[in-house]
Amino acid sequence: MSYAGGGVPGRDPMQVSTAPRKPRILLAACGSVAAIKFGRLCSCFSDWADVKAVATRTSLNFVDLASIPNNVMLYTDQHEWSSWSKIGDSVLHIELRRWADIMIIAPLSANTLAKIAGGLCDNLLTSIVRAWDYEKPIFVAPSMNTFTWKNSFTEKHCETIDELGINLIPPVTTRLASGVDGTSAMVEPSFILSTVRSFLERKKASSSRRA
Ligand SMILES: Cc1cc2nc3c(=O)[nH]c(=O)nc-3n(C[C@H](O)[C@H](O)[C@H](O)COP(=O)(O)O)c2cc1C
Repeated sequence: MSYAGGGVPGRDPMQVSTAPRKPRILLAACGSVAAIKFGRLCSCFSDWADVKAVATRTSLNFVDLASIPNNVMLYTDQHEWSSWSKIGDSVLHIELRRWADIMIIAPLSANTLAKIAGGLCDNLLTSIVRAWDYEKPIFVAPSMNTFTWKNSFTEKHCETIDELGINLIPPVTTRLASGVDGTSAMVEPSFILSTVRSFLERKKASSSRRA
């Protein structure tokens, strides 16, 4: 999959580039245990796309920073404020929202799910979502304890984000050895990649049929 557009430094700015470019993917991690897989998720996507990453403060307890590929810039709430000092400076969450073709929040925590459903925007991740252009896809892959997943708030919040046009990649339920409890775990990073790629291929096929 390739996309037209994207300026090339050094070219005449009036010349419109028709060179294909890679899709721009914004990956985001919340403070679910599954954030330990975030480095692998970034690696999967960076073979195919230009990737930038966002991590919530809590997710940094789980994300292995050494596993983030060198060509992926990871942004946190601190960057939002260190990159802004006066009126007229660019605002990071708006720049990232503009830059990205697609946003993928994996893992999505119960907390951030609730904040998105309620329109709250008190960190970099939720500020990007609150400003999002829903002409562009967003995917979320929740991961939480099964008790939390089955709580009635989750159903309400999932209905709300579905109405917004956010695509849910549902968790998989894993049984513990006891057979009683379980965890609603995030799907594997490779599955997230294939879900997003087939979504885009279907979208491209349906828009070329309409043309
Ligand atoms: C050890 C530990 C594991 C946690 N695992 C999860 C989890 O898998 N899913 C989840 O939704 N919350 C989990 N939490 C709770 C979140 O970290 C907490 O709600 C946090 O506020 C989420 O912040 P964020 O949404 O800004 O990333 C866990 C907390 C702890 C202490």
